[in-house]
Amino acid sequence: KKIPTTIDVLLHNIGTLVTPQGNHPRGGASMKELQVIEKAAVAIANGRIALVGTEQDVRETLQKAGVEIHEELDAGGRLVTPGLVDPHTHLVHGGSREHELALKRSGVPYLEILAMGGGILSTVTSTRKASEDDLYTKARKSLNEMMLQGVTTVEAKSGYGLTLEDELKQLRVAKRLNETHPLDLVSTFMGAHAVPPEYKGREEEFVDLIVNEMLPRVTDEGLAEFCDVFCEHGVFSVEQSRRILMEGKRNGLIPKIHADEIVPLGGAELAGEVGAISAEHLLATSDEGMQEMANAGVIPVLLPGTSFNLGLTQHARARDMIDTYELPVALSTDYNPGSCPTESIQLIIALASVNLKMTPEEILTACTINAANALGRGFEIGTIEGGKKADLAIFDAPNLAYLPYHFGINHTFGVLKDGRVVVW
Ligand code: NIG
Ligand code: FE
Repeated sequence: KKIPTTIDVLLHNIGTLVTPQGNHPRGGASMKELQVIEKAAVAIANGRIALVGTEQDVRETLQKAGVEIHEELDAGGRLVTPGLVDPHTHLVHGGSREHELALKRSGVPYLEILAMGGGILSTVTSTRKASEDDLYTKARKSLNEMMLQGVTTVEAKSGYGLTLEDELKQLRVAKRLNETHPLDLVSTFMGAHAVPPEYKGREEEFVDLIVNEMLPRVTDEGLAEFCDVFCEHGVFSVEQSRRILMEGKRNGLIPKIHADEIVPLGGAELAGEVGAISAEHLLATSDEGMQEMANAGVIPVLLPGTSFNLGLTQHARARDMIDTYELPVALSTDYNPGSCPTESIQLIIALASVNLKMTPEEILTACTINAANALGRGFEIGTIEGGKKADLAIFDAPNLAYLPYHFGINHTFGVLKDGRVVVW
């Protein structure tokens, strides 16, 4: 590889650098084979990684090539990983739902609160009321929180507007955040998040609205890359989900799906059938569903914060997905005001260890390259290697296992986004 003539930043004195290797389209065994470099350095030019290796090797190479180093950044012997990727969030929304906490804790199920007109529909009311600026300010705060956790790329779904204008409003906020905030945002249109009250009993007409009016406008305005559906008992059926995802595809949006979160409805199977890039939640997924996903190359995105916060004893079968089906498991916060009100990917890292029994190596892979692939971005983020974006997280931790082990605090010391220091 060619070395640039000047290096903008040399991140050096890295105690341990840990990264998945290459862009694995499949997980399985590769989720365990990380590259570990002690006493490492990363040379950055034009926001990209120019060189990575032991500090000694990197310095020697740069010296031999007569390269000028503009700035040196001392990692202080800390742990460095690729910037974390959060591939499933409901970032942009109005209000919050702590008024439902007592109801939730008294054992009223999630879908029942929704059927009573609360849950997602409560947030729909707040989001419709909110101005674009209100939504922007609130989401920006959350995004800062995520950045402080070591995250450098975030997916954001619409789905709390549920009218054409209110869905566009949410998506425009995400677009504006992507343009004005250092983090990268990836947008997903999720008009099929719930049936709004004005369409109660006329569900098919709401699906028509999504297909005939929302999808074309969203794509015309270039406001989303992905299309997602809440495929769940009492929300959107497999048939309705299929129609929306296929129409989305016809409009150029790549399918994603909230599948088998509560009931094994066949969402994972549908993900395989429509060629979804990812299927999310998967608490109740059957073996057939996992096999379908493996056959079709669908990435499972697991959200252990949701089962934790809903107080469920059931968890996604991460071990089977990784060991038996060799699925490239990804992890995400699912940050949203209902089932998982947290921006903390580091909490998710702890929960993936406790409840999903994933190893530290698997967890890092799941939060970096596999998450990047769930967003179609594995070619430019998710690992520390030459040519990729210089998105790096620096943790005040002696080794990788320390992150899931020492839980409940923020380990982040610094974050580089596109080669620039955004947290230090
Ligand atoms: O991923 N399940 C559907 N959507 C979100 C929750 C949204 C909400 O409750 O506001 C989820 O869990
Ligand atoms: Fe979600």
